[in-house]
Amino acid sequence: MTASFDGKRRGLVTGASAGLGAEFARQLAAMGSDLVLVARREGRLNELADQLSREYGVHAAIIVADLEDPAAPKLIADTCSEHNWQIDWLINNAGIAGPDLLNDRDWSEQQTFFQLMMLSVVELCHQLVPAMTERGYGRVINVASVAARVPRSGGCNYGPTKAYLVALSEELNLTVASKGVHVSALCPGFTHTDFHQTAGLMEMKNSMAKWLWYDADVVVRDAIKGVEAGKPVVVSGRLYRWLDPIFQSIWTRRFLRFKARPENTT
Ligand SMILES: NC(=O)c1ccc[n+]([C@@H]2O[C@H](COP(=O)([O-])OP(=O)(O)OC[C@H]3O[C@@H](n4cnc5c(N)ncnc54)[C@H](OP(=O)(O)O)[C@@H]3O)[C@@H](O)[C@H]2O)c1
Repeated sequence: MTASFDGKRRGLVTGASAGLGAEFARQLAAMGSDLVLVARREGRLNELADQLSREYGVHAAIIVADLEDPAAPKLIADTCSEHNWQIDWLINNAGIAGPDLLNDRDWSEQQTFFQLMMLSVVELCHQLVPAMTERGYGRVINVASVAARVPRSGGCNYGPTKAYLVALSEELNLTVASKGVHVSALCPGFTHTDFHQTAGLMEMKNSMAKWLWYDADVVVRDAIKGVEAGKPVVVSGRLYRWLDPIFQSIWTRRFLRFKARPENTT
């Protein structure tokens, strides 16, 4: 059964043109929330906004923005103020697989990746959370990943940016929970979206066991339930909830350190 809000709420969803973001928009609209949808692909945003307004009778606006641009978060916040769009739910979801820290040699590509994955998220929190605490109500979901929960060798970028979102969400939640604002980091495992196709990882995806993959609606439902319950970290999907304590265990860390020692590598 879909929950619904008491009174009108408005959710701002970044990366709403596809995958988890579009599903967040759908589930929030089904709960009666007005929406502000943010991404770069205007056509897709308009299509989704029209569809959700028609289907659920909510007001859905769009903001076309590239979150790799450092000016974007302030522009988004200013646009919301100009239109008197009070944001009650902030879903920081936009993200990509990104470059490899050591092998991709263009530093500007690394910088724009960090801007999208970390700085845009923390600035949107900075811009929008104070008004939530003043009103005594807010929900923030920062979409991290299971990749934040265990270090892996190689890449050295995606997992660390998501680990930052977990740390940020935990600390922010401690700071504002007493003021009616819940902040959660969502840690999905492998999820069927456009993510792997965009990253050129379809061969990897097709070679993996099907049972490792979840649908976006399951992940988003877990996230909404988790943030409502005030959980600072929400690991979605039964399999990943079961694996998470193993990832977090000191023994797993010791095993990974042992494996990385020179005599144990080939
Ligand atoms: N799929 C998985 O297995 C998985 C697992 C764990 C975590 N995640 C995380 O889940 C989040 C959503 O990804 P997804 O799986 O739904 O992927 P997706 O289907 O590829 O969607 C990514 C969304 O991010 C937006 N985006 C990308 N770069 C952007 C930019 N520079 N500015 C504004 N928007 C941008 C895209 O919109 P435009 O291209 O229109 O801008 C799109 O709406 C990401 O943070 C990802 O790291 C995914």
